[in-house]
Amino acid sequence: MELSLIVAMGKHREIGKDNDLLWHLPRDMKFFKETTLGHTVVMGRKNWESIPERFRPLTERQNIVLTRNEDFEAEGAIVIHDFDELSSVAESNNDKKCFIIGGAQVYDIALKSGQVNEMYVTEVDETFEADTYFPFVDSSGWNVEVVLEHEADDKNPYSFRVKRFWR
Ligand SMILES: NC(=O)c1ccc[n+]([C@@H]2O[C@H](COP(=O)([O-])OP(=O)(O)OC[C@H]3O[C@@H](n4cnc5c(N)ncnc54)[C@H](OP(=O)(O)O)[C@@H]3O)[C@@H](O)[C@H]2O)c1
Repeated sequence: MELSLIVAMGKHREIGKDNDLLWHLPRDMKFFKETTLGHTVVMGRKNWESIPERFRPLTERQNIVLTRNEDFEAEGAIVIHDFDELSSVAESNNDKKCFIIGGAQVYDIALKSGQVNEMYVTEVDETFEADTYFPFVDSSGWNVEVVLEHEADDKNPYSFRVKRFWR
């Protein structure tokens, strides 16, 4: 199965702290929404719980949550207990992509599976105190293009760019 991945990270690959994001960048949130809308999104239990209840499940997307807890319930989402279950539960419509949306544990499993062939990476031009980091990915062997470049403005406190990697 082919997987896409989407992540936003600081200069040191930092992605989270205290089960929350490190910044508020509405323009990047908009990019995330536009890119994933209509597709499947796959997340770890911690990421699911970090989303405010009123915003989950993420609208107009099939939401899949990974947990080892057999009793865990996520209203409006499909719960799986093993990453290998993904291929059988993700909708088999070829027009739909399956986006890995984090956090770090789930990014790690997906990357190690060798099934990720596309990554949207937002590079935020700042360093942050963090407790969760995106795994190191050797970008040789990947094609890359910049798909969005954004300067800091009154609503977005840091400049950032979004790169699309594919192979
Ligand atoms: N900047 C970004 O783009 C971005 C994106 C997403 C998340 N984040 C941030 O990342 C942080 C959360 O990341 P995280 O790494 O702590 O947690 P996570 O990956 O969201 O979730 C971890 C949980 O997934 C389940 N899990 C992990 N491996 C599993 C396996 N092999 N089989 C079954 N279940 C498995 C476990 O759930 P159980 O404990 O229930 O068994 C585990 O506790 C937060 O700070 C969040 O804000 C940032």
